[in-house]
Amino acid sequence: MSSLLYQQYTNIYDGAIQKCKECLERNDLAEASSYLSSAIEAAIYLANNAAIVELQKKYSEEYRRLLSLKDKLSHGENPFLKKKTVTANGVESEEKETHYFSKEPPSVTLKDVAGLARVKEEIEMNVLLPMRNPALYYAYNDVGGVNILMYGPPGCGKTFVAEAIAGELKCPFAKINVYDILDKYVGEAPRKIKEIFAEAEKYEQCMLFFDELDSLFSDRESDDSSHTKDVLTAFLTCISGFHKKSDKKSVRVVIGATNRPWIIDKAAIRGGRFDTHIYVGLPDEDARKFIVEKAFRNDPRLLQGSDLTIPYMSEKLEGFSGADITSICQKAKIQALKRAKVQNQVVPVLKSDFDEVMKTYKNTISKEDIQTFEAFEKGF
Ligand SMILES: Nc1ncnc2c1ncn2[C@@H]1O[C@H](COP(=O)(O)OP(=O)(O)OP(=O)(O)O)[C@@H](O)[C@H]1O
Ligand SMILES: [Mg+2]
Repeated sequence: MSSLLYQQYTNIYDGAIQKCKECLERNDLAEASSYLSSAIEAAIYLANNAAIVELQKKYSEEYRRLLSLKDKLSHGENPFLKKKTVTANGVESEEKETHYFSKEPPSVTLKDVAGLARVKEEIEMNVLLPMRNPALYYAYNDVGGVNILMYGPPGCGKTFVAEAIAGELKCPFAKINVYDILDKYVGEAPRKIKEIFAEAEKYEQCMLFFDELDSLFSDRESDDSSHTKDVLTAFLTCISGFHKKSDKKSVRVVIGATNRPWIIDKAAIRGGRFDTHIYVGLPDEDARKFIVEKAFRNDPRLLQGSDLTIPYMSEKLEGFSGADITSICQKAKIQALKRAKVQNQVVPVLKSDFDEVMKTYKNTISKEDIQTFEAFEKGF
C-alpha cells in the first residue's frame, strides 16, 4: 500500500469517526451508523493493507470495536449519550440510574455454538451446574460466585459463547464493553463500574459479562494512564466484595473475555478474581461444518446441483476462525449473487466462487498467533 493511499484511508477513517461522534452527541443514530459504516470499511482496508503489522492489528481491533458499536446503534442504544432528566424545578440533571442488565435474555443457546466440546464441558461444571444446582455446588465451595476468563484468538466465539450461556440460563444478563465504561471525564469510568456491580447485587442469580477485557484492564505497569489504573482498581474492589455475602442459595457469575490475555494486569487474573481460565480456540472440523451449514441455511437452492460441498469447504477452512468462515461463505455467496442478478434468478454458489474468495482472503489468525495462545495456555 502506498503511503499516499494509506494517508487517504486514514483520513477517511478519522473523518468518519469524527462525524460519527458528532452525530452521537446529537443522538442521530441513523446518520451515525452510516458514518460508522464508512469508518468500518476504511478500517477493514487499513487492517488488510497497512504496511506495518502493528497498524494492521490496530485497525483490525478498531474494526471489531466499531462493529460492536454498530450493533448497539442498531438496537437503538447510544452509549455516548448521557441521559438527562428534568427535575421538579426544571433543572436538567444527568440521570443517576443506568440499567446495564437486559430484561430479554439472548436468543442463542449453547446448541448454537459449534464444536468447542472442552469449552462447553468447562462451562457446564463452572457455570451451569452451580447456577442450576447451588445446593450441590455449595457442598464443595464456600464462595457464592464464579469468575471466569475466556481467552483465545479473535473471532473464535468468546462473545458468542457468553451470550449462549446467558441464553441457556435465562438469568439476568449484562454485557458490558469498553464503550459502556470508558469516559472522557475523569472519575466517570470507576463510577460506572461500581454502578454495574451495584445493579448486579440486586439479583440473587445473574451473569455479568465484560467483553474485550484487555481494553479495560491492561497491565498497570505498561500503561501509565491513571484513567486505566482507576478503572482496574474500582473493578478489583467491586469483584472482591461481589460474591462474599452469599446465603449459600444463590450463585452469581462474572465472565470476562479477551483476545490479548497477556496484557491484562496480573492482579485481575489471580485467585478470587478471574481465576478460572478457559481457552476458546479455533473450530475443529465438525465445528467448521456446522458454521458453514449455518451460512448456507437461508436457501437450499444455494448448494443445489452445485459442485461445492460442505465437507470440501470445511476441509479448506482449517485454521480459520468462526468469524472468518462466516465471512468467506458470505463473500462466496456474493460471487453467485452477481450472476443471479444478471440472470434474475437464484443460481447456486459454485466451487469456483469459493476458491476465488479463498485465493485472496487473508486469514486473520496466523500459526504464530495460535502458538502464542497455546504457550500462554500452558503458562497460565
Ligand atoms: N464456535 C462457534 N460456533 C458458532 N458460531 C461461531 C463460533 N465461533 C465463531 N462464530 C461466529 O463468529 C462470530 C464472531 O465470533 P465472536 O464475536 O464470538 O468471537 P470472539 O472470540 O468474541 O472474537 P473477539 O476476540 O474478536 O472479540 C459469531 O457471532 C458467530 O457468528
Ligand atoms: Mg468478542
